[in-house]
Amino acid sequence: MRTCTTVAHLQLTLNAERAKGKRIAFVPTMGNLHEGHLSLVRKAKALAHYVVVSIFVNPLQFGEGEDLDNYPRTLAADKSQLFSEGTDAVFIPSVAEMYPRGMRTQTQVRVPELSETLCGSSRPGHFDGVTTVVTKLFNMVKPDIAVFGEKDFQQLSIIRKMVDDLCMGIEIVGVPTARASDGLALSSRNGYLSDENRAIAPELHHVINDCKAAIGSGFDNFLQLESHARLRLLAAGFEPDYFAIRDARTLSNVTDQTEEIAILAAARLGPTRLIDNTRFNLATHSEWRLLAAQD
Ligand code: PAF
Repeated sequence: MRTCTTVAHLQLTLNAERAKGKRIAFVPTMGNLHEGHLSLVRKAKALAHYVVVSIFVNPLQFGEGEDLDNYPRTLAADKSQLFSEGTDAVFIPSVAEMYPRGMRTQTQVRVPELSETLCGSSRPGHFDGVTTVVTKLFNMVKPDIAVFGEKDFQQLSIIRKMVDDLCMGIEIVGVPTARASDGLALSSRNGYLSDENRAIAPELHHVINDCKAAIGSGFDNFLQLESHARLRLLAAGFEPDYFAIRDARTLSNVTDQTEEIAILAAARLGPTRLIDNTRFNLATHSEWRLLAAQD
């Protein structure tokens, strides 16, 4: 496995592979790798000849008072896991390598509307930091394919829109959320949970699933479902940020045109902010369409 810390070395390495006709897949990460990240690497390997993973804790996507300084950094363990998965190259740039002229004057990439709702409204500027660093990484790696986790479904939607709007010509592949056996979505931030909160945390997934089941059985008062879900989360000990039933394509409210629904939630457990989601096709999942049509 090749380790590159500079853009020049990365590009020299990748140009040689591209010249051999290899299809390159890219998995951007912030490190502290777990099974969820490794499932992205496996997907990348299945779709391309050469797999590049980046590890970069991007300061631009952390707000004031967020966990940038405490974000878990486990480089040696990350590299050994990537090696075991057969990763071809790992790119580990410094902040100075990524932002040589500093961050204040860095050109930004912003996806309006999609990046302002849900996590975007509680973490202003977060997605601008994500789209800016992902654009830079895409321009450095020039991949054919890039693989992202569906746990960060809003992030994935924003990146798909950015790639489409800016004609980047990169195939974006989403991989289903990896979960612990009790249903908790795997996340680097799960490591912040106390034992007590770790026991409560899977409730986020259960509340989302119960909401999905209620829609499946024909319940169509979404405002009521959202407020019931928030109350359940509060009762379990969470501080809910949002619980939203949305159109999975636009992340706006569900309309007559909605084909796929996304249920997305973010909630704090002590200092830890957890997110999770599920998606399903209305026509195949439920009697909802049928009942709505009879109204
Ligand atoms: O999902 C993440 O880990 C990050 O937001 C990403 C895509 C690597 C950009 O820093």
